[in-house]
Formats: sequence, structure tokens, C-alpha cells
Amino acid sequence: LDVTVGGPTGTTIPTDLWGLFLEDLNDALDGGLNAELVRNGDFEFNPADRDGWHALTAWTSSDPARVAVRREDPVHRNNGTYLRLTGPVTLVNDGFDPVAVVPGARYAFSAFTWAVEGSGCIVLALEGDDGVLATVDVPVEPGGWNPVAAELTGQVAGAGRLSLTVPAGLTVEIDVVSLRPVGPDGAPLTFRPDLLETLRALHPAFIRFPGGCLAHGLGLDNMYHWKGTVGPRHEREQTFNTWGYHQSRQIGYLEYFQLCRELDATPMPIVAAGVCCQNLRGRARAIPQDEMPAYVQDVLDLIEFANGGTDTFWGARRAELGSPDPFEMRYLGVGNEDEITDDFRERYAQIADAVAAAYPDVTVIGTAGPAPFGADFEAGWEFARAQKVAIVDEHAYRTPRWFHQNIDRYADYPRDGALVYLGEWAARTNTVRSALAEAAFMTAIERDSDVVALASYAPLLARVGHTQWVPDLIYFDAERVLPSASYFVQQAFAAEPGGEVCAVSLTGAEPVPVPGWAGGAVRVSAGGSEVELTRIGLDGAAVQPARVVPDSEAHLGRLGGRGVLEFTATRSSGDDGLVVCLGDAGGDTVELSLGGWQNKSTTLA
Ligand code: AHR
Repeated sequence: LDVTVGGPTGTTIPTDLWGLFLEDLNDALDGGLNAELVRNGDFEFNPADRDGWHALTAWTSSDPARVAVRREDPVHRNNGTYLRLTGPVTLVNDGFDPVAVVPGARYAFSAFTWAVEGSGCIVLALEGDDGVLATVDVPVEPGGWNPVAAELTGQVAGAGRLSLTVPAGLTVEIDVVSLRPVGPDGAPLTFRPDLLETLRALHPAFIRFPGGCLAHGLGLDNMYHWKGTVGPRHEREQTFNTWGYHQSRQIGYLEYFQLCRELDATPMPIVAAGVCCQNLRGRARAIPQDEMPAYVQDVLDLIEFANGGTDTFWGARRAELGSPDPFEMRYLGVGNEDEITDDFRERYAQIADAVAAAYPDVTVIGTAGPAPFGADFEAGWEFARAQKVAIVDEHAYRTPRWFHQNIDRYADYPRDGALVYLGEWAARTNTVRSALAEAAFMTAIERDSDVVALASYAPLLARVGHTQWVPDLIYFDAERVLPSASYFVQQAFAAEPGGEVCAVSLTGAEPVPVPGWAGGAVRVSAGGSEVELTRIGLDGAAVQPARVVPDSEAHLGRLGGRGVLEFTATRSSGDDGLVVCLGDAGGDTVELSLGGWQNKSTTLA
């Protein structure tokens, strides 16, 4: 095999090409990058958001009769629920299963408390299965809500939990409970350090946030509004997460921008295009026109918050929150996988036109509609060209085979002005085969980077046992970080970015054909979820329905031939992603991941 490297093609690889996609999915933030160790420290888990949730989710007590959930006099209107503890009683929080305690590490506790009867101290302890690891007394004051703080440290390791004991004779109200590791500068950490370093090693040129679907939300009441996510933690607006858990917003817009600064990456916020996620659960879908001027102003204010001088209103607010220097935001995404409806078209244009007029230096990124390359895809591009969108965000969650087969996809794209942002993409699932397919595709992206300006693998982070989507780039649990094979591919490309693209030719090798689907056994595996498959078939032929219990695999029978594979799957319990694996005669597999979605179908090439 001879490889001949020729002269430059004229394409210079953009320095912004490889970035990160960060969405609070799979416990990526709460229970992940957010260094907070207490789960539901604000007692804001809302029964209306999810069956079984309540103010005391993640907490247990020694005597429930001595724990009252109250809302009469909250610490802030956005943090409406708190507890009244009448001693003697002990309250325990297991964290995000569990609190990992490191010998010698310092832990910063804080809360708001109000001694309503009696006086004295609450006793704070880090407990492990073998006993108490560290303990400290925290004085509480009467007369209103008071912030309290204390530090815990111990020489023991273990799977811990936080306990708060109120002695007999004392009645205390409590809210906004926090436990964070202390950093080298003595301040509580914002980001979990091992995950932060794992992200840093990816050398991201930009970070996209907060989604994904999280940006436009599941209904208007769930849309992500940045203003409610900056400022003190107890004033932030919390809500349910599109992905089935709770968003504390402790990592809000301020922390997203700080993360970009920390990793020397350009911030790329994605705001909703005035419409919410197409999976509506019957909720309203577009911001009413009479409310759009205020929404457009919010978007303009976001840019002022990021880039404005300290003599502007929002620039001054940024300085007040600790960042006098601007965050130098150059990209703004408007919309995510939106259906290309008139509601979308109107609102997108209103936002994008206002940004272009006020901030011509900020590049607005549009959307090519729902992934992957569905019916709206062409409509998305057509609208983007008519609207003169500079960069269009398109998504590709496909099989490794698809990436090999589509290696020339971007070579064939029109060079008519609109560039591509491959904003979410991954080969299913976490195998070396997928990583190699991604590497091959990335060489093609570099080759065609005169039309592909930006790319980010998705999703980025996943806590083991808490996934709603597979595959993911970096897995982790309470103590360990477990990068996937794909992680090392992303790292290799971003750490050693190319400059000029050179023509390359191969001689002495026949192209290796990408294997096709040959039919075969169907097996279904589930992670931590129980899944009901009511139909799974290929071009009219079907195998038996099945129920797959967590962490198991079911063999369903055989399906032959090529065509459209369809299945209907309903999650009966759990949150974990489902992977359907189809083994063919040659031992090859096609793997489909089921994230938050109920129904999936795909074409077997
Ligand atoms: O990455 C997971 C999800 O995939 C994103 O939230 C959404 O944009 C896409 O469908």
C-alpha cells in the first residue's frame, strides 16, 4: 500500500473545528460535573414533575413525625419548599449514590437555617457503613433565615452520606443544604475536578450548552431561560429535566461561561427559537407573539451579559457576579432540531434578525430540523438558505457502517455560503468499531472543513447506571472517570489539529467494501431499565414481543433480509438507555440506542 501526500488543496482546517456538546442528560451536571454532593438539597423535587418525587426525595429521617415540609416563609420565592425539624431527629442524604469520601479531603457544608424554638447547634456528620467519618457542630440562630457554613475533614475513605442531627429542645428550619469538596484556594469547588481535567484534555475549541433538547424544553413552562440561572443558588429557577430528573441549575449560565473560560473554549449558547421540543406531552409549543419582543430582548441581554462592558446593565451584572472580564462569546445557536413549522420560521427570523442588527460580530447558528436527516431536513436547509443562515446545525446518530458509507457526504455539499455545524453526532454504540468509524469520518470532516466549520460529539457525559442515552463519550461513577474509545479519538484530533489539507492518494489497495446487513438473530439488551417491546419486525416479518428486565439480554428469534427495521419499545421502569443489537450471519451487529424516546425505527442498509 503506497500513500502519496500531495500538495495543499487550498482548505485550511478551522481552529474552531472540534468542540464539546454539554447537556444535562445522563446526570451529566447534577450528579456529575456539578461538584455538589447533596442530592435535592433545596427540597424542590416536585411531585407534579415525576411520579414518586417529593420534597424529601433522596432524604431519610430517624423520625418522620419530627420532619415537616413547609412553604409558608421561604428563603426565596424561587426556592419555595423547606423543612422544619423538631429535635431529636436525624436527617440523612445519600447524595448521588453515594457520597465518595476521600481521606484528607476537606468538605464545605453550607445551608440556610432558622432556629424557631430553642437554641444551640445541629450536628453535622459524614457517615460511612463503618461508622462516623467526621463530625462538626453548627450553631443556628433565631430571627430569620441565616446562612451557616462549616468544614468537615477526615482521614478515612468510603462511600459516605451526610447526616444532620437536631438535638432535643431545638426546632430548626433548614433549606439550600450543600456539601462540596474544597479546592486548593480554600473555596468550595464548582466543578468535579477529575471530570474537569478529562474535559480539558479534549482541548475543546468551543463548548455548546445547555443542549440539545434541554434548551427548548418539554413545553413552554420547561424552556431554558438563562436569566433564572445566574445569581445566588437559592434564587435560581429549578425545573424538571427533559431527561426525567431534576435540574437544580447550580450549573447555570454563569457556570457554563466560567467553564468555557476555564477550558479556554469559546462559549456557544443554544437558545430556543421561541418554540419548544416537538415531544410536547400536550403542552403549548410556541411563545405567543405578544410575548416574543420580551423573549428577543432576553436573547440580546444574554449577549450583553457575555460580552458587554461593565458600563452596560448586563455587563455590570456579570461583574457583580465575579466576572468583570467579558466571556467573548462569538457563536449563538438559535433552535435545536426544531420542526420547520411557520411558528418556528417566524420566531427564528425575529430572533436572528435582532441579533444580526445589534451584534453583527456574533455568528448565529440555525438548525436543520430533527435528527437524523428526517423529512424536515431539506426544509430546514431550504429555510436556512433563504434566511442566509451562516452556519447550520445538523445531527447524525448513526451506525458505524453509516459513517463509512457516507465518508464523502460533505465532499458533495454545496459550497454556497452556508457552512455546517455537525453539532451532535456519534456512531452507535461504545465499541472500538464505532471509534474507528468516527476517526475515519473525522478525517473526512477535516478534508471537507471548507464546508464543515464546527463539530461536537454527543452526548458528552454519563453517570453509570443513570443513562438516558447511549453511547456517550465519558462515563463516570462517584469515584471513577471511564472515557470511551471514542474519547481518545476525539482527543487525538483536537490535541493535534491539522493546518492545511493536502491531497492524499492510495495505490496498491483495493477499497474494502462496507459489509451489508445479512439478516440474523435479534437480541435486545437493557441497561438499568425494564423495557417492553410490543413489535419488532423487518419488512412485514416480526419476532415475538418481549419484556426485557434490567441488566439482561433477550433473544427474540431471527429476521432475514434487508429493509426497514421497526420496533415499538416502552420503558416500564428505570432511566437507562436501551440498546437493540441485531446480530447477522457474519457476527456483525447493528446497534440502536433508545434514549428518552418511546418509538424507534431505522433502515438497515
Ligand atoms: O444528545 C441527546 C439528544 O439528541 C439531544 O438533546 C437532542 O438534540 C438530540 O435529539
